[in-house]
Amino acid sequence: MTFESISDELALLAAAARQHTVYLQELGVETFQGQVVSKRTPSTLRVSSPKTRAESVFDQPPKQIFERAPQPVPTARTPAPGVIAAAPKPDTLFSSIFQTPQEPLPKSHETFEQIWADVGACTRCPLSAGRTHIVHTEGNRKARLMFVGEAPGADEDAQARPFVGRAGQLLTKIIEAIGFKREDVLIGNINRCRPPANRAPLPDEVAACKPFMLREIASARPEVIVVMGNTAMKNLLDIKEGITRVRGQFQDYKGIKVMPTFHPAYLLRDPSKKRETWEDLKKVRDYLDNNES
Ligand code: URA
Ligand code: URA
Repeated sequence: MTFESISDELALLAAAARQHTVYLQELGVETFQGQVVSKRTPSTLRVSSPKTRAESVFDQPPKQIFERAPQPVPTARTPAPGVIAAAPKPDTLFSSIFQTPQEPLPKSHETFEQIWADVGACTRCPLSAGRTHIVHTEGNRKARLMFVGEAPGADEDAQARPFVGRAGQLLTKIIEAIGFKREDVLIGNINRCRPPANRAPLPDEVAACKPFMLREIASARPEVIVVMGNTAMKNLLDIKEGITRVRGQFQDYKGIKVMPTFHPAYLLRDPSKKRETWEDLKKVRDYLDNNES
């Protein structure tokens, strides 16, 4: 390692540590034996109204949405969460920040009903054989914010609605934590039929179904899309790095801001990751607050 690359790396680590300190101050989180004992938000760091609501969700004692999981004791091999571990490697940082902008997406005049009529009783891919219902995108067609997942699970397949199972209930709370109601936003999946045993959709299955999602995006033209989990992120964006590296950094889909974050099903398995998801969602909320049209 050259002297320059070490000092670049140190500068990045220092910046990440500073950011983390500001973040903790902003939440006013002080911990004692892994429990949140006091939280306050310095008035200088408060911004506009939806935050108050989000913070109040975050402030609820355990069992709340962005609950703090017990933090591992940092050692030389397991760095303190959010400090060293969160610092992206320079190459990832730069390749993500300098993602090549794509041609802007023209707004289409198709309605969702027209798009769904084209989906029809779809048999374009083998997933159709195992489905009970096709699960279309739901919510406000004029939404500023859209959430995109991977594919329906059992509950979604049974009810013909996206994100209504356990992961969906967590997603609803996440949406509320940033000051929206579920019905204010759009929620959908890249694939509309449930894969067997909830496996990730295969490339051919994605290729068959994704065009309908892209047509819905062009029709609704949300300002920000939150893409959840590795599979959905890689299927929507042309990105090689994994979600753990890319999350929290705005990406571009044809002129629409895309925020990759963890999938709520992953948060159910590892609640300690809710903290990072909260940071990502705060960026989305701040962007929408600061770009009110
Ligand atoms: N997981 C997804 O990716 N989508 C859903 O609709 C439900 C669970
Ligand atoms: N891996 C995934 O596929 N999704 C996540 O959200 C996190 C890790």
